[in-house]
Amino acid sequence: MSILTVQNLVKQYKGKGKNNLFPALNGLNFTVDCGEFVAVMGPSGSGKTTLLNILSGIDTEYSGSVQLDDCSLSSMKKDQLALLRRQRMGFIFQDYNLLDSLNMRDNIMLPLVLDELEPEEIEAKMADMLTLFELAEVQDKYPYTVSGGQQQRAAIARAIINGPEIVFADEPTGNLDSKSAGTVMRTLAGLNRDRQVTIVMVTHDPFAASYCSRVVFIKDGEIGLEISREQGAARKTFFGTILDSLAFIGGGEDDF
Ligand SMILES: Nc1ncnc2c1ncn2[C@@H]1O[C@H](COP(=O)(O)OP(=O)(O)OP(=O)(O)O)[C@@H](O)[C@H]1O
Ligand SMILES: [Mg+2]
Repeated sequence: MSILTVQNLVKQYKGKGKNNLFPALNGLNFTVDCGEFVAVMGPSGSGKTTLLNILSGIDTEYSGSVQLDDCSLSSMKKDQLALLRRQRMGFIFQDYNLLDSLNMRDNIMLPLVLDELEPEEIEAKMADMLTLFELAEVQDKYPYTVSGGQQQRAAIARAIINGPEIVFADEPTGNLDSKSAGTVMRTLAGLNRDRQVTIVMVTHDPFAASYCSRVVFIKDGEIGLEISREQGAARKTFFGTILDSLAFIGGGEDDF
């Protein structure tokens, strides 16, 4: 069953001058099934962030249709869209976006406080998150005093604490060393596997993408190629397939 359906998505940015339009997405079609973990790859400037910003309702200036479950994002009013984003989507960013004025614990529980949940419910969900993401020891610390990996795990906890249907991540390992990147990717893969969280992740990194169940490659503003990890296939095997696909679809090594 699909949770997200994108049809004929066209996005043009205004350039300098009057009629100067720059095409970023050219009639892109894309579907995500419930419970999938999908990576979006492509060279720098190929439109990955543009796509993610549209799917996640940040950017509303486009043509084509974006459907999340029973809701058509493309025809929603601003306040409806804001509510849908808050209640049904989670977001993870490259630079974590934690608030430096709040400790780790308060950062994670922020969505529940905004939703005015009962204190007991907040406590129960917090306890679950702190265990799941191994953050109990640093819960009273401030974000700037803990590691990047711990900050990103807290950001993931914050993104999923109110049970979103879908999580969008833009380069979640972009600022991390390879060891922390591995931990973060295992965390995301675990959420997907054990809690059936649907995840769409933009990444340059074939290592990060190898944790996903499917990888789509953007080329010339469309999906140029997609590959799926076979049931039970080893991650390392899929990593090799991703590298082969990157070579096949073009773009220098440095682009990815
Ligand atoms: N606000 C904007 N105004 C004008 N052009 C833009 C804007 N944002 C992005 N673009 C252009 O649209 C194209 C796609 O950009 P986008 O940020 O989606 O690429 P990306 O695949 O995420 O790249 P990267 O891997 O470097 O993050 C690029 O050519 C970029 O220069
Ligand atoms: Mg980008």
